[in-house]
Amino acid sequence: MIVTERVLEVPRSYPVVIGPGANDRLIDHLRRVGASSEIVAVTDENVWSHDYWDPLLEMMLAAGYHPLLHRTPAGEQAKTRDQLAAVHEKLALGGQGRAVTVLALGGGAVSDLAGFAAATWMRGVDFVILSTTLLSMVDASVGGKTAINIPQGKNLVGAFHQPRFVLADTDTLATLPPEEVRSGLGEVVKTAILGDPDLFERLEGLGGLDVADPALVEIVARCVRLKAEVVARDEREAGERRVLNLGHTLGHALEAVSGFAGLRHGEAVAIGIAFVARMAADLCRLDGAIVGRILALLEALDLPTEIPSDLDRDAMAEFIAVDKKVRDGEPIWVLPAELGRCVIEPVPGWRRYLADA
Ligand SMILES: NC(=O)c1ccc[n+]([C@@H]2O[C@H](COP(=O)([O-])OP(=O)(O)OC[C@H]3O[C@@H](n4cnc5c(N)ncnc54)[C@H](O)[C@@H]3O)[C@@H](O)[C@H]2O)c1
Ligand SMILES: [Zn+2]
Repeated sequence: MIVTERVLEVPRSYPVVIGPGANDRLIDHLRRVGASSEIVAVTDENVWSHDYWDPLLEMMLAAGYHPLLHRTPAGEQAKTRDQLAAVHEKLALGGQGRAVTVLALGGGAVSDLAGFAAATWMRGVDFVILSTTLLSMVDASVGGKTAINIPQGKNLVGAFHQPRFVLADTDTLATLPPEEVRSGLGEVVKTAILGDPDLFERLEGLGGLDVADPALVEIVARCVRLKAEVVARDEREAGERRVLNLGHTLGHALEAVSGFAGLRHGEAVAIGIAFVARMAADLCRLDGAIVGRILALLEALDLPTEIPSDLDRDAMAEFIAVDKKVRDGEPIWVLPAELGRCVIEPVPGWRRYLADA
């Protein structure tokens, strides 16, 4: 089964093609958007080692495209100034002015780098994403945020730059390590809580997730649909888009304080969701029974729900207090109010909840 969701409004609307074998549609979609024949592709060492690139290369050569490949180190090491410069070098080499398309083959790290390179090359050239992680399929590939990291922090240098299309070939998830699948599931649970109670119930019914389960296509499609709706209403995060930060206020602090070593993004988000759910219940914002269901679902999916005991609460509080989602000196929390609805507000006693967690 292949599902195609549309993101954003015309004229910048773009399709997200989800399902097994979606990558086989690459040439059709390149032609449909009138992509230039010059292509600069970016992938990382892990994805490259799994042989997803060669068939794509053959397909493109046979169809008359001229792809040049840049390989980055895996993970966050892709999102550096040096790697950005290396992609720009490839664009200078392979591009003919603005007539070049940047193709990302990988997870969110690769598409964040490739998208930012595309946004900054000659003030913006075409960009397409072939997602190979669950997190990227349900989250990073939708919405047009691109960024690299600098020593002062993650994602600090970035731009909004929408892709022309996204292919989410679920066959590629077969080689994704289980901890990376879990990380993606953290974002899936987030999506369900903030806007899709049916998805929440469906996840409860599954008990766990096998990436070969045909149900996955529908799960990914629902996440894309919801993120697309939210992003279409608030492309530049002026207001409503902030609900997508459910679990992220604490999640980002956990990642920063753990040095991005111990916890994957979606795992940190899961802990962040559990934290705000408990806080919301304590503030009488959320029914205790729903908190129980949220915690049970996270656990059933093998996601963590407690802040690791060795992490410094004060350091986390400091990080939260200076994070970019602070308004008038107070961090803004996204609190679940019921399944499918969140409220966004400051919580004056948040430091106490964190100290006690
Ligand atoms: N732009 C956005 O809106 C947005 C949203 C969420 C996250 N992000 C960013 O995305 C990044 C996280 O994304 P991610 O979880 O996809 O991480 P990732 O791209 O680092 O991929 C995770 C790991 O899986 C490997 N991998 C990828 N696909 C594989 C496959 N099919 N088989 C085997 N291994 C594979 C990668 O090499 C890497 O080691 C972060 O940098 C985050 O800031 C961006
Ligand atoms: Zn996230």
